[in-house]
Amino acid sequence: MIMTSQKQYFIETFGCQMNDRDSEIMGQLLRDSSYGVASEIENADLIIVNTCSVREKAEQKAYSLLGRLKHLKKNNPSLVIAVTGCVAQADGDKLFKRIPHADIVVGPQQIYDLPILVEDCLRRIKPQVATKLSSSFSIPPFLPDIDTGSTIKRFVTIMQGCNNFCAYCVVPFTRGREISRSSEDILSEVKHLANSGIKEITLLGQNVNSYGPPSFPDLLREVATVQGVERIRFTTSHPKDLSEDLMRCFSEIDKLCPHFHLPVQSGSDGVLSRMNRKYTSEDYLNKVQLLRSNCPEIALTTDIIVGFPGESDDDFEATMRLVEEVRYHSAFSFKYSDRPHARSVDFPDKVEEQVKSERLARLQKKQNEISLERNQEYAGKILNVMVEGQAKSETQWSGRAPTNHIVNFTGGKNLQAGDTVSVEISEGCLNSLRGTIVLD
Ligand code: 5AD
Ligand code: SF4
Repeated sequence: MIMTSQKQYFIETFGCQMNDRDSEIMGQLLRDSSYGVASEIENADLIIVNTCSVREKAEQKAYSLLGRLKHLKKNNPSLVIAVTGCVAQADGDKLFKRIPHADIVVGPQQIYDLPILVEDCLRRIKPQVATKLSSSFSIPPFLPDIDTGSTIKRFVTIMQGCNNFCAYCVVPFTRGREISRSSEDILSEVKHLANSGIKEITLLGQNVNSYGPPSFPDLLREVATVQGVERIRFTTSHPKDLSEDLMRCFSEIDKLCPHFHLPVQSGSDGVLSRMNRKYTSEDYLNKVQLLRSNCPEIALTTDIIVGFPGESDDDFEATMRLVEEVRYHSAFSFKYSDRPHARSVDFPDKVEEQVKSERLARLQKKQNEISLERNQEYAGKILNVMVEGQAKSETQWSGRAPTNHIVNFTGGKNLQAGDTVSVEISEGCLNSLRGTIVLD
């Protein structure tokens, strides 16, 4: 019997796709430092909790998991616990007061130092705190590992940070100022992925519209020239920076998928102004109309906050009206929560929890009705679906339409993940479409 003493890591990720990508990077760095992947958190020698602090609930979830790790540390004192991500950045060494059994705290800019920090920790130089946020930081060139993760679609980070300072938002304080990666590094990462068989690329950043130089539309045009890339997506956008040039890309670039996540946050001009969003509901609606005239089949999704300080019944009704006017394909909606450093913490007229809950329920009910109706509009249409995997049986499959809808379909044997097939949609459900493969 061969005994192995390879140490194993386990990563739990909260929050956004930026965090998902950061977790992939940390995993790759650890595997390069000869760590293996633990199948269960209980078996790990190193646990990384990659946290999100965008909303109070996300932060609570991370702290609750960290709290539960106490007993693992008690049973195994050599276990190393690293806290990364936005909560780590926001709380720094204060985190040890609440979670004394944590060993390492690493902010988003310093994830590349994780293996060294773990080594130092094992040499008993602890606790380790790496939460520098520098405006001269540059994202190191980094070629993704193809052996783990999806074989068909990947995220590519194109920028870090945010300069917008929306009044409610913690991100500028946890991810720092906007820093764009060089287009050369982005393109070599995309080419590396495409050469390894990846077909769909999602370009990631807190506000990709302000990427540059080159401009974001020019970057998209360059990425589209990479052989092997079949689908391009991006997230996330700020409506104030959505240019007509970017809108034109949807009619110009075949590979650019007709899906746009355009967070509106509120339909009330007063609230938008206090949120420091720098657009009015009219500006937003004009952009939606222009986007749709450039790309009639585009599916729009959004983020909405209810109960921002001072949000009156009338303000909330304006949000409801906007949602009914735009008729989003889907929407993420949240109750406002105070976040550390955010300007709105000091705003008067906080909305009562119960009112926030009522507004959220009304909004979600309305949006669910719209999402269902929107999805039903696809019945009878034939969509190009990229296969992601088998569903329940040999002839049941799951994939994604260009609009990013999940499509569950029957028919077709021996399909491979990454194949694109034509599917006739028979039914639109709340969160997915159903159909049957069209055989040529
Ligand atoms: N409270 C509630 N929701 C928030 N978001 C960001 N900050 C807050 C906050 N303080 C939401 C926004 C954003 C999404 C990622 O999270 O809608 O677009
Ligand atoms: Fe959460 Fe925002 Fe940080 Fe992403 S950038 S992890 S959404 S706080």
